[in-house]
Amino acid sequence: MKRLLFLLTLIVILTVPLYADDAGEKTSLFTTPVFLQIPSETSIGAVWGVNGPAAGFVEYSTKEDLSDAKRVYSCVPPLRSIQEKVLSVRIRGLEPNAKYYYRIATMSVEYPDAYHVKVGEPEFSAVHSFTTMGEKARSSFAVINDTHAEYDTVKAVNKKLKALSPPVVVWNGDAADQYKSEDKAINAILNLTSRAMAENYAFLFVPGNHDYRGAWVRNLDTVLLTRNPEERDSKYWALGRNFAVRQGDIALIGLDTGESKSDDNPDLQGLAEFESYRELQTQWLKETLERPDIKSAPFIVAFCHIPLIIPRDDAENGQTNSYVWSRATSYQWGQLLSQHGVQAVITAHKHRYRYDKPMEDRPWAHFVGGGKSPKTATVFHGNVEDEKLIIRVYRIGDDSVIDKYTFEKRNIERR
Ligand SMILES: [Fe+2]
Ligand SMILES: [Fe+2]
Repeated sequence: MKRLLFLLTLIVILTVPLYADDAGEKTSLFTTPVFLQIPSETSIGAVWGVNGPAAGFVEYSTKEDLSDAKRVYSCVPPLRSIQEKVLSVRIRGLEPNAKYYYRIATMSVEYPDAYHVKVGEPEFSAVHSFTTMGEKARSSFAVINDTHAEYDTVKAVNKKLKALSPPVVVWNGDAADQYKSEDKAINAILNLTSRAMAENYAFLFVPGNHDYRGAWVRNLDTVLLTRNPEERDSKYWALGRNFAVRQGDIALIGLDTGESKSDDNPDLQGLAEFESYRELQTQWLKETLERPDIKSAPFIVAFCHIPLIIPRDDAENGQTNSYVWSRATSYQWGQLLSQHGVQAVITAHKHRYRYDKPMEDRPWAHFVGGGKSPKTATVFHGNVEDEKLIIRVYRIGDDSVIDKYTFEKRNIERR
């Protein structure tokens, strides 16, 4: 009898943990939704959080059932990636203005020593879709800015983006206050901000001054990819955040104003070199505005985080602190934009909406987006309707249109 009791006890001890494992929720290998970014006519990037160590891939196809799907692994050739927290994939060789269906997969990896490695079965996401950019794509975009990882603002902005359903979104900087660690960046960028909005349209990221703060920010490209190097001449490879892409009739140009503080500001402790970085952008901008696909665009809109114009009131009152980056560069960029018939520049940073109408010596309109509370945040929607570009500015607080401006086609013949 005693033996039987001992055996029964042993069976219970051995089976209880197994039972508990089976009954408990299986931990997902995904820690965030997928966040689509760096879109172009022929490529796109996908980034997602993982409960690693893990490997992963994207499967994509023009068919919804993914029956002929191609697979692209997260990989830094020649090795496929094994990451603890974030995986990313760059998909290249796509057709312009084409709709693709896709899903992502994550596999656990055990790699105890040089002679043993075990990769688990893939865990798949749901199937989503995206459409590549291109001259024939829908002439439409949205802009958000200065969300600063504020949950209520992000939630409200997401809701508006979902309603507008733009093909592409420009995220015009200050996604967070600072980046202290990978976990904080994952929360601010991949988890908080991408939830429910970045699976079906891609983001063009334009850094703000706060996107250069915090020691970990030097690794930001793990969650916010830099543009593909083949988009530019090798002499401009340092400009991984600049973009110039066609979305239908609109050319979208992204510039990086960088830190609001000058390089010699004691706060930066000699750890920044933005002046030469901005000068290189001036050269890039000059060449880019001559590119046939940009030059022939019926509409050109440029984006940068820090405003290019100081309103007279601020200047007279000496309130130039939040503009102190490089007046020389802003002047040069402004001149180039004027010479090439850019119609509008959309900026951010001031957390208060403003519109500066075009002037004789500055023929482009200048917008400053609001933020960072749900009350003051704005979402811009640019859309070509009846051959005209209409930019509507929505205030998120009450979902009202606070401004609407119409732009005629550029006179391409004269340029
Ligand atoms: Fe900001
Ligand atoms: Fe800012």
